Amino acid sequence: MLRSAILAVSRNPRLERLITAAPVSRGVVRRFVGGTDTATVVESARGLVASGLTVTLDHLGEDCIDRAHAEAVVGAYRDVLDALELAGLAERLAPLTARSEVSVKLSAIGQALPTDGHQIALEHAREICAAAERVGATVTLDMEDHTTTDSTLEVLADLRADFPATAAVLQAYLHRTEGDCRDLAVAGSRVRLCKGAYREPASVAYQKRGQVNLSYVRCINVLMASGGYPMLATHDPCLIEIGMQRARFYEKSGYEFQMLYGIRPHEQLRLAEMGHPVRVYVPYGAQWYGYLMRRLAERPANVGFFARALISTR
Ligand code: FDA
Repeated sequence: MLRSAILAVSRNPRLERLITAAPVSRGVVRRFVGGTDTATVVESARGLVASGLTVTLDHLGEDCIDRAHAEAVVGAYRDVLDALELAGLAERLAPLTARSEVSVKLSAIGQALPTDGHQIALEHAREICAAAERVGATVTLDMEDHTTTDSTLEVLADLRADFPATAAVLQAYLHRTEGDCRDLAVAGSRVRLCKGAYREPASVAYQKRGQVNLSYVRCINVLMASGGYPMLATHDPCLIEIGMQRARFYEKSGYEFQMLYGIRPHEQLRLAEMGHPVRVYVPYGAQWYGYLMRRLAERPANVGFFARALISTR
């Protein structure tokens, strides 16, 4: 119920203006968002890299409304990639992995436009991949709701012809995902596995937490047994433990864990200190409001953190 209430609040424009303008929001934003501009997020990335982690940067934005908007998002990715290179943070660590990468939502670069959305998103994604390649970084295509899965996987296949390190994201809550894992579990294929963040119908997605977790474990097995490069994106201690155990079992050297900026930061460092590669997903940009509200809705315990921050400044 609290989850629905938070999501309802997140859609109220008056509350958005109020919360965005409140000075106290800054502290909360700083915890979950790497920066509101390019310079600040690069400094956040520098700090994470200095502590032994790698990063993937996600430019936050609302729905893309027209082609000009999509082009502006591509420009923002170019800027941040250039800034990462200047800061010495964009180097390749191996043919498939880089210290820094960017995560891109195809909807932000044109996929949802009414005419030629798929093609526009593909061309824009190609520009971002080329900019990333130039500086040594890599790209992951975030996965959105199930109506976009086929289009996103087609774009991925096209991009991989020229940029083989481009990564896919698969969502364990979808019935189709174990099969998609098998299709993508080929040598050199980078695949981020997450539980899935969208509200999906029972016709396409598991509805119970236990079913999603079991699907996640089946997918870990498929990916870890393959010659691909699994990227286990979860904060779930149980799944992290299973991931480590499977990596040992298959004597897997190429894999990583991924977590969101500001969530279980001590666990991120603990895993890295144990020798497991850990990448932090760092969202940034002026349009942080929707992202922050989704994080609060996902884990209402974080609402307490927000409330304490509000009270403590008074
Ligand atoms: P879940 O939220 O179910 O939590 C499981 C357990 O983890 C909790 O019971 C608790 O023990 C622990 N935990 C979680 N949050 C905690 C906190 N704040 N503090 C302490 N413990 C905590 N989704 C999508 O649809 N498309 C995408 O492209 C991506 N990309 C993506 C990248 C990365 C790097 C991550 C980490 C996640 C995504 N996601 C995503 C989001 C993903 O699908 C999912 O919604 C969230 O990660 C939450 O699921 P968890 O697996 O973390 O477990």
